[in-house]
Amino acid sequence: MIKKPNSIPKPKGKLGVLIPGMGAVATTFMAGVIAVRKGLSQPIGSLTEMGTIRVGKRTDNNKPKIKDFIPLAKLNDIAFGGWDIFPEDMYDAAVHADVLEKDLLNKIKRDLKKIKPMKAVFDNKYVTRLDGKHVKKGKTKMALAKAVMKDIENFKKENKCTRLVMIWCGSTEIYLKESKVHKTVKALEEGLKNNDPNIPPSMIYAYAAIKMGIPYANGAPNLSCDVPALIQLAKETQAPIAGKDFKTGQTFMKTVLAPAFKARAIGVEGWFSTNILGNRDGAVLDDPDSFKSKEVSKLGVLEQIFEPEINKELYGDMYHKVRINYYPPRGDNKEGWDNIDIRGWLNYKMQIKVDFLCRDSILAAPLCLDLVIFLDLAKRVGMSGIQEWLSFYWKSPQAKKGLTPQHDLFKQLEKLENTLRHLKGESLINHLGLDYYEED
Ligand SMILES: NC(=O)c1ccc[n+]([C@@H]2O[C@H](COP(=O)([O-])OP(=O)(O)OC[C@H]3O[C@@H](n4cnc5c(N)ncnc54)[C@H](O)[C@@H]3O)[C@@H](O)[C@H]2O)c1
Repeated sequence: MIKKPNSIPKPKGKLGVLIPGMGAVATTFMAGVIAVRKGLSQPIGSLTEMGTIRVGKRTDNNKPKIKDFIPLAKLNDIAFGGWDIFPEDMYDAAVHADVLEKDLLNKIKRDLKKIKPMKAVFDNKYVTRLDGKHVKKGKTKMALAKAVMKDIENFKKENKCTRLVMIWCGSTEIYLKESKVHKTVKALEEGLKNNDPNIPPSMIYAYAAIKMGIPYANGAPNLSCDVPALIQLAKETQAPIAGKDFKTGQTFMKTVLAPAFKARAIGVEGWFSTNILGNRDGAVLDDPDSFKSKEVSKLGVLEQIFEPEINKELYGDMYHKVRINYYPPRGDNKEGWDNIDIRGWLNYKMQIKVDFLCRDSILAAPLCLDLVIFLDLAKRVGMSGIQEWLSFYWKSPQAKKGLTPQHDLFKQLEKLENTLRHLKGESLINHLGLDYYEED
């Protein structure tokens, strides 16, 4: 149980948001926050900006905006920084990403031009489809981690930040399994000094942030902070951590539909999901080793929701396949198809087709905003380690050892909302409706 704080410290001063990987998602996030600040657009898709929460009894009819219910950092108080292997400033990077219209970008050009990436920690062995020159040099991975920490300190001073959050929006690295070097903080620190090949760049940034007690979110399916050593370190340094892999398009839909089938005891024989996308992320995922990281992350959700081991007749033989195809003409505008073969009463077969014509970074940007805002809240109230209440945002939520992560979107939302209620000392809502029987 999360300890209820006596009071929630106010978010005083500036919140620095540090982003390793300043490509399509990151620029759409930053440009969006700046545009909203200037009143040029609306933060649609962000729970922390637009969402409401029910408080008290149903009869109270009390549904404030989340941001009015609990003290959260304000958009005006956010300062952005980060790292990339390309030196382009955030205006050029956003133009390159080709997500937002030029007209909007030109209105915020001055602000975006000012944000320039710091030199990255990068090794093309881990993202084989990319190479860039804007990269740090260091004899050991520990030296690189220390260089990142120095960057963080400088950023904090220059931008007069009182608090920081780091969110990985970098490319998907090749698939790595947890190994010996990831087991303990000591082993990881030794590994950083000895350039252990099982420590990819994303883990170096994560180590740097967590070592400094800074909240860390992992937007890609990379192992990153999802190893015992960094979970342990996060506890020691009081850093909240969360991951992994933003739940935006197809998996978002999957974790809405699958609980509905399960709720009605409808059988599922097969679920075939395929995507076409043509942005830089698509090019990176065209490498089978990076795709493997994504595939593992995308495949896990149905197993947990359907529990085929206890629902054999309904889901025991389900065939689940996920494909991603790089198709340049579509750019960031991904198309995700799902063919779902379902079975109803007396085993009669039916099909459902979903064709989601989405915009990858438009879906991901509000998630980035919510995550940095909620992680800052978590840090202020003293919550550290894995933040399971933020599972709502992830394809492959990190969970405590021995626990199965929850994938059902609505159960995830309930947990998120109840965590906020708990922090504020409000009663939790379980929809039992007992208040109906109460006298008042
Ligand atoms: N958009 C979505 O809906 C979505 C959903 C889930 C996960 N993701 C993940 O988010 C990440 C970002 O997606 P994107 O569309 O912005 O990709 P992108 O290719 O446009 O941006 C990634 C950026 O990371 C940089 N980079 C790679 N390695 C780096 C390193 N070690 N240090 C610093 N910078 C590094 C690249 O140069 C690039 O600019 C990807 O891993 C993607 O799989 C995106």
